[in-house]
Amino acid sequence: MNYRHSYHAGNFADVMKHALQWACLSYLQQKDKPFWLLDTHAGIGMYDLLGEQASKTGEWQAGIAKVLAAPNPPDELAGYLAAVRQLNPDQALRWYLGSPYLAALQLRAQDALTLCELHPADAQELSENVANDFPHNGTIHVEAGRNGYAALKALTPPPIKRGMVLIDPPFEQRDEFAQVVQALHEGTKRWANGSYVVWYPIKDPVAVSEFQQRVADLTTVSKVYCTDMLVRTAQDPSKMNGCGMLFVNPPYGVVQQMATIMDFITPLLAQDQGAEWQGSWLLEG
Ligand SMILES: C[S@@+](CC[C@H](N)C(=O)[O-])C[C@H]1O[C@@H](n2cnc3c(N)ncnc32)[C@H](O)[C@@H]1O
Repeated sequence: MNYRHSYHAGNFADVMKHALQWACLSYLQQKDKPFWLLDTHAGIGMYDLLGEQASKTGEWQAGIAKVLAAPNPPDELAGYLAAVRQLNPDQALRWYLGSPYLAALQLRAQDALTLCELHPADAQELSENVANDFPHNGTIHVEAGRNGYAALKALTPPPIKRGMVLIDPPFEQRDEFAQVVQALHEGTKRWANGSYVVWYPIKDPVAVSEFQQRVADLTTVSKVYCTDMLVRTAQDPSKMNGCGMLFVNPPYGVVQQMATIMDFITPLLAQDQGAEWQGSWLLEG
């Protein structure tokens, strides 16, 4: 396990992932009934963009920095951008929130959040961050050192019946797509009504289409939507030319909001003329 998210925090992939994560949880918040979020690959929760690792790549400058600086963002992005701004009150961008912190900000007293992080050092940091920044929030559970795929199988069906699983692996392993398909199968078999959101890199478009098709072929799913974004012309399949998100049972209304969000962020995150996004139903239920 070499991957450390601190090198990539706030990059174009984080912006897409976190903007759409925020939109999904906003929909779950619309009803008073509690929701549960399982974040299978949580990272450390909070990132210092001026720290050694983020500074080495500077990826956030072509990511969150561009979107924060852009005029007239749509209302659909307001909550996510306000969360980032709140952390950086003096205008200079330094701190960036990962998926656990964004989720924690949207949690109400009745909701619950489970965070899995396998890397020992990152798990330790996540535990300390959550204990320091959300000390009285008894509804956040950090599963330090726990494999998120195994947790998905073990913790479903959850006692809270509404909710979402966020699967955001590092894609270091060659069989990561296969592991995600298996995890989706295990989850949807046990918890058919849950929403499942998977982030994936777009390098080789053929591998991505095969992954999407294998999810659509699962007998346990009936609604699958995919949003793919290229930030540059996909000439070199060894590079991350973009990323996508696959939604099983997307929360109602999110698909409509997605177009507004993606239309706004894609040109801001573009690295050449080949930048574009598209969304489509693989299975419409
Ligand atoms: C892309 S990062 C997560 C970023 C985070 N979701 C966010 O948006 O802020 C992937 C994380 O998964 C961790 N990881 C890798 N394999 C894992 C597994 N099987 N279970 C849980 N965590 C894992 C890595 O250590 C890394 O911190």
